[in-house]
Amino acid sequence: MSDTEMIESGNMKIDWVLNHMPVLNIIREQFEKDKPLAGHRVGMALHVEAKTAALVETLAIGGAEVAIAGCNPLSTQDDVSLALHQKNNIQCFAKYDCCTEEYYEAIDKVLDFKPDITIDDGADLIFKLHTERTDLLPMILGGCEETTTGIHRLKSMERDGALKMPVIAVNDAMTKFLFDNRYGTGQSAWDGIMRTTNLLVAGKNVVIGGYGWCGKGAAMRASGLGANVIVTEIDPIRALEARMDGNQVMPMREAAKIGDIFLTTTGNKDILKREDFEVIKDGAILANAGHFNVEINLEDLKSMASSVKTVRNNIKEYTLKDRRVFVLADGRLVNLAAGDGHPAEVMDMSFANQALCVRYIAENKLANGVHPVPLELDIGVAEMKLKSMGISIDKLSEEQTAYMDGWECGT
Ligand code: NAI
Repeated sequence: MSDTEMIESGNMKIDWVLNHMPVLNIIREQFEKDKPLAGHRVGMALHVEAKTAALVETLAIGGAEVAIAGCNPLSTQDDVSLALHQKNNIQCFAKYDCCTEEYYEAIDKVLDFKPDITIDDGADLIFKLHTERTDLLPMILGGCEETTTGIHRLKSMERDGALKMPVIAVNDAMTKFLFDNRYGTGQSAWDGIMRTTNLLVAGKNVVIGGYGWCGKGAAMRASGLGANVIVTEIDPIRALEARMDGNQVMPMREAAKIGDIFLTTTGNKDILKREDFEVIKDGAILANAGHFNVEINLEDLKSMASSVKTVRNNIKEYTLKDRRVFVLADGRLVNLAAGDGHPAEVMDMSFANQALCVRYIAENKLANGVHPVPLELDIGVAEMKLKSMGISIDKLSEEQTAYMDGWECGT
């Protein structure tokens, strides 16, 4: 494709998702009118695909200058990246399948641009700001973090007294994790697996590693596709919840013997490792939807394999002594590295929270540390979403409010 064709393709993708992001569109209109980000420089490291581009455009419409890098080497869509780079007040440095050096060079370019507000998905920008680029910290007003793993990292930094800037935990907004992590990952991880393998899910033993918000969504959709779902967990409450939701629950070592498709969603490392590969079935398919590519231990798998070859786009076959194991998208998040990521309607809410939180940081002085998304913003996003869906709900009457607040009424 020529550059012109790439730009056209990227813009078509952006236009398509924008038609399905009504809440972000309302915020765009407000931003156009108020220009709340005029004079601010927003530095971002996110998955560079169409929905993210819609967020970047929104921030630029709000008056910000924006620079963005990818947050995963395999999730960038080059046509979207190029289309973004052409737009006013936007620089995009993301490239698909870049090497580790190029990946961090792009992050550095975003920091060279001297942002005063950051948006991360996995805390890469903030990590660099606190290690190699500490000179830039004094000009930072605050940052936003998109995902569970990033917030884990930031809370660890806060606990150790190492976090030197305010960060809003966008992932923890109810209108984010209840929808994005659950319904977004639930649908898009299966979209990635199905379009990559072109195989049937019905009748297979699907093993979901972790029953958090992403795991619940992935298990629910696997069940809807006709799979026999097995969950592995380390948390007794979540294990119990998985069982009561109708799944089988067992340790990975047991699940490894019977699973046909494995999907890890824990945010932890070594969910599938040597001892599991020793017993895994011939033909097993392994995919990950957790943030980093550490959930499937590919070093272990490589060291046990006599050969590794690509057998289809985004599928690597590892030949063990008497079995073959197939890994999708090199163990990177399968919904983005082998698909288009979450549905636009879901990212509408996640990125509405991002845009509103960037405005909140620009308009309020926050103390260093991890902050929740202000409740009124979170509820506001839910209200706008319901309205856009043509749904209205009941209101408490005065009598009901008094009843709920009181303690006198018993029988
Ligand atoms: P969560 O904290 O709600 O759930 C993680 C679950 O994994 C917990 O129930 C935990 O007990 C379990 N777990 C931890 N170690 C385990 C082990 N060794 N074996 C079995 N289970 C284990 O987190 P959430 O929100 O579900 O996110 C999970 C991961 O997915 C994170 O890395 C997050 O950043 C990422 N994520 C990915 C998205 C995508 O587009 N693919 C979207 C949103 C989040």
